[in-house]
Amino acid sequence: MAHLCVNIDHVATLRQARGGQEPDTVAAAVLAEMAGAAGITAHLREDRRHMQDRDIELLRQVVQTKFNLEMAPTDEMVAIACRVKPDECTLVPEKRQELTTEGGLDAAGQTERLRAVVQRLRATGITVSLFIEPDLRQIEAAHAAEAQVVELHTGRYAQARGDLLIEKEYARLLTGAEAALAHGLRVNAGHGLNYRNVKPVADISGMEDLNIGHSIISRAVFVGLDLAVREMLSLVE
Ligand code: PXP
Repeated sequence: MAHLCVNIDHVATLRQARGGQEPDTVAAAVLAEMAGAAGITAHLREDRRHMQDRDIELLRQVVQTKFNLEMAPTDEMVAIACRVKPDECTLVPEKRQELTTEGGLDAAGQTERLRAVVQRLRATGITVSLFIEPDLRQIEAAHAAEAQVVELHTGRYAQARGDLLIEKEYARLLTGAEAALAHGLRVNAGHGLNYRNVKPVADISGMEDLNIGHSIISRAVFVGLDLAVREMLSLVE
C-alpha cells in the first residue's frame, strides 16, 4: 500500500503573497497529519520563494510522522539539513527561474558529486532520496550514488494527453519502479499527481510514498484541508 505525504509548500506561497503570518505552515502540517497523512514534505528553495528557514525548523519540531525536506544538493542546503535533521531528504534540481521543479535530477551526469552529498546526509542519519526521471540510466546512477530511495518524476505521466501517451508514460513508471526495486532502492513518486491520475501510480507494486502538493492545497481552498487530504488518502491507500 502506498502512503500519502502532503507537500505544503503552497501554504507558504499564499503566506508569502502578503509577507505576513497566515496561513501558517505548522497548522497545515498538523491538520494534514490529523487527517491521516503519513508524512509532510516541504521544499526549501535557494530563493526562499515559499518555505523560509523558520518553517523548516518549526516543521521539524512539530511533524510527528515523516518529515521529508526537498532541496537542491548545494553546500548551503546540506548544512541546513545536517543541522535540522529531517527524516528524509529528497534531492531535486533547482533553477532559480523555473515555476516548479521541471525535470528530474541528472544523477547520471554528476554521480560523484551526488555521492559526496548523499554520504554527508546519511552520516547524520538522514534517509536520502533522489528525484529522477524513471530512466534506467538515472536509476543506476542513483544506486551508484548510494541513495536509499528514488522519487520517480511523474510529471510527464501527469501531463500526457490521450490514452496512448498516458499508457506510454505509465509504462515508463512501471519499468522504472521495477528497475529501482531490483537495485535495492525504495520507490517514491510525485509531481503533478491529482485526484484523477493518482490511482494507477498508487497501485504500482512496491510504491511507497506519493508526494503530492498542488492538487491537495488547491482543493483545500474549496473544501478545507482535512477533507482534501482524506479524499486523496482514500485514492492512495
Ligand atoms: N516531488 C517533488 C520532488 C517536487 O519538487 C514537487 C513539487 O514541489 C512535488 C513532488 C509535488 O508536486 P505537486 O505540487 O505537483 O503535487
